[in-house]
This record gives sequence, structure tokens and C-alpha cells, in this order.
Amino acid sequence: MGAKRQFKVWRGDETGGDLQDYQVEVNEGEVVLDVIHRLQATEAPDLACRWNCKAGKCGSCSMEINGMPRLGCMTRMSSFEENETVTVTPLRAFPVIRDLVTDVSFNYEKARQTPSFAPPAGVAPGEYRMQQVDVERSQEFRKCIECFLCQNTCHVVRDHEENKKAFAGPRFFIRAAELDMHPLDAREDRKEYAQASMGMGYCNITKCCTEVCPEHIKITDNAIIPMKERVVDRRYDPLVWLGRKIFRRDQIEAGTPGVDAVSKEHEVGQGVNWHREVPQPQTAAVGDDGRLPISEITFDKAGGPSPFGDDLTFPLPPRA
Ligand code: SF4
Ligand code: SF4
Ligand code: FES
Repeated sequence: MGAKRQFKVWRGDETGGDLQDYQVEVNEGEVVLDVIHRLQATEAPDLACRWNCKAGKCGSCSMEINGMPRLGCMTRMSSFEENETVTVTPLRAFPVIRDLVTDVSFNYEKARQTPSFAPPAGVAPGEYRMQQVDVERSQEFRKCIECFLCQNTCHVVRDHEENKKAFAGPRFFIRAAELDMHPLDAREDRKEYAQASMGMGYCNITKCCTEVCPEHIKITDNAIIPMKERVVDRRYDPLVWLGRKIFRRDQIEAGTPGVDAVSKEHEVGQGVNWHREVPQPQTAAVGDDGRLPISEITFDKAGGPSPFGDDLTFPLPPRA
């Protein structure tokens, strides 16, 4: 029989709750979810906790352990000191249903609003062909298990409920990036859409989402930063600038395929999911020199290779 260890588990529902103390037996090799299961089997049979695979693959058992967003089934008890009290609380960014179970439907609303794969014209399903190199470029993003730990961690919504209407969150920025680098996707406005309608402008690249991702997806380095930089690049492209000077805005938009579709889809998305008065960041938050203020990058881990290619390093050098 293993030694007893000290736990604090949040118990309650949407009307309120508190941390409750438990002493639970812990055996070698166990994870936090094992302890929750032992609690359910002994002194707290009504303790609510969502889980499914117990293998880090279903993304259900997201919780906060000693204040850190983590998967309960992948957090070994051996990672804590023997005399350390382990505190288990529900995800903070989403409304509590009961005990450790939260209502994560915010994420499903955002998934519904994210434009899906746009099939190429003139190619029937079953005839799609991709090079292996293109499959591999976005493979990292397809590892997402939708645990929503990144969504829970992002300070844009974690402490600011009011931002949820306008901000899709890191999980959906990687979805936009994945489709953006898909060679058969017919939409060419993924980055602009992410910036204008998914709230990517709110992200100030703190990299907290990357830090908690159990699939080690380089959310910020490989998805958000390349998309942000390229939106800015396009915005400050001298040819685009010249075009704007020569043509009136309505002429440009009338002749730009996809713009109408984007705004219509955006309207539909709002109508379906949210009421109207949604604050929408319309432009990248750039300085006079056309560059993003990315001075907030403080993360000390090196990023992986960019799936957008090795021709860019960030931050970009100042324009001549
Ligand atoms: S990098 Fe952006 S999306 Fe990720 S946690 Fe920070 S602000 Fe949120
Ligand atoms: S990107 Fe990572 S942290 Fe975010 S939902 Fe997917 S697996 Fe979870
Ligand atoms: S139970 Fe499936 S990820 Fe933890």
C-alpha cells in the first residue's frame, strides 16, 4: 500500500465552491487522474471529473494542477515533492459545471466560426493529390487533441471574459495556419481572416499557449508569428500600397475575389453564435515602421523550424 499524500480539490458548481482537503493513498507510477479515481472510489463518490482515454490522447481530463493547466492523466505524482500538497482546480477560463468539469462550449462555437477547408475547383473528392512535403509541413498542427489547455491559458480570455466574443484563441489560429499552408485549400485569405475576424490582433505573442500544449505544438513560433508577420508584410507591400493609391477602396474590394465571401461568412458566424456589438480588431497592431511590437517575447526556449520555410527569421529586419 502506498503512502498517503495531501490533496486539495475544488468542489462546487456555478453558484460557488471551495477547496476541500483529502488525504489519498498514492502508489508508484500513478498520475493525478489515478488519485481522482481513488477519491471517487472511496470518500468522494460524487466528485465530477471528465476523462476518457487515460493516455493523453482524448483531451478530456484538462484541469489545473498547482495552478498550472495540465492533463490529469499525464501528470505523474512523482513530479511533486513527497510532502507537497497537490491542489487540483477546474479550468479557470471556462464556466464551472460541477467540481472539475467546465463548460468548454466556447471552443465549439469558435470551431464553428472557423472557415473550413475550401475544396479546389474542378477536382473531385478522391482526386486530391498532395506532395509528402506539404503533408509534413502542417502535420504538427494536426496533432492537436483539443484539450483546450492553450485556450484556458491565454491571458486574452483567461481574465477578460469580454474578449471571448472577438477572440478565437490559439487552438483556432493553428487551424487557420494549417489550412493556410494546405496546397489544395482554395481560400487565399486565411491570414487576413484570422487577423480581422478571429482576433489574432489581440495576441501579443507571450507564448504561454505553447508552454502548456501537451502535444508540444509550437503554436506561437510556427503558426501565430508567421501569420502575423505575413499579414503585415502584405499590408506594407509597396505594390499593394501603390494599388491603394491608384484605385479607390471600393474598386479594389469589388475586384478582390473572396472579400465578399469573407464578410458574408463573418456576418453569418456572428448571427449564428453571438449578438452584434462585437469589437473586431481590423488591422494589425503595427508601429509607423510597419512592424509588430513583439518586444513582449520573453520565452527562453528555442522554437522549432518554421513550416513556412527557412527564408524568414523573426523579428524581421527594419525595412530600408
Ligand atoms: S501567444 Fe498569443 S494566443 Fe498564445 S497565450 Fe499568448 S496571447 Fe494567447
Ligand atoms: S494546440 Fe495543444 S494545448 Fe491547444 S488544444 Fe491543441 S493540443 Fe491542446
Ligand atoms: S483522459 Fe484522455 S487525455 Fe487525459
